Amino acid sequence: MAVLETVVIAFWAMLPAYVPNNAAVLAGGGRPIDGGRTWGEKRVLGDGKTWRGTAAGILAGVALAVVLTYLAPTVSDLVGVDVPGFVPGAAVGLAAGAMLGDILASFLKRRTGRQRGAMFPGLDQLDFVVVSLPLTALLATEWFLEVFTLGVILVVVVLTPILHVTTNVIAYKLGLKNEPW
Ligand code: CTP
Ligand code: MG
Repeated sequence: MAVLETVVIAFWAMLPAYVPNNAAVLAGGGRPIDGGRTWGEKRVLGDGKTWRGTAAGILAGVALAVVLTYLAPTVSDLVGVDVPGFVPGAAVGLAAGAMLGDILASFLKRRTGRQRGAMFPGLDQLDFVVVSLPLTALLATEWFLEVFTLGVILVVVVLTPILHVTTNVIAYKLGLKNEPW
């Protein structure tokens, strides 16, 4: 498979996992998931992980997967690359996995004494990949094995941090996010 083709498929297949974090930033606020609770003097998750942001993120990711599934045949024709549609397990696995990974990252940040908004290089950029891919593999095994070839996974691991840094800097400049990471 040509490199460009692999990049197109990787980006397309990861879109339902990329969008939830940005949707959460836009919709976030309200009651934090940890309800303000602490563990060992430190917040369990912190005020940056809310029910509303999480729900909005998962909904946005699943909705996008549905739209992309309808668009897949047309886009495949236009671009000349066979982009996949999303089975329900893949839509949920990618979207919910992305939010779960982000929540897990905040849990780890709090345990390591990092305040809300603190940077955690590496984790910040790949947290959602680490959970969304295994969860998708679990919920939609056949689909996952077909779409996420070794090459696609490799591209995802390289492409995701670049996209993450870029979109967060844009969100920061637009005043949507408090920090550029
Ligand atoms: N957000 C949310 N719910 C989530 C994830 C994000 O409400 N599950 C919203 C919050 O308003 C959050 C913002 O999106 O402040 C930015 O997300 P993120 O950078 O992940 O959170 P931080 O505030 O930086 O907190 P943390 O240090 O825990 O990552
Ligand atoms: Mg942050």
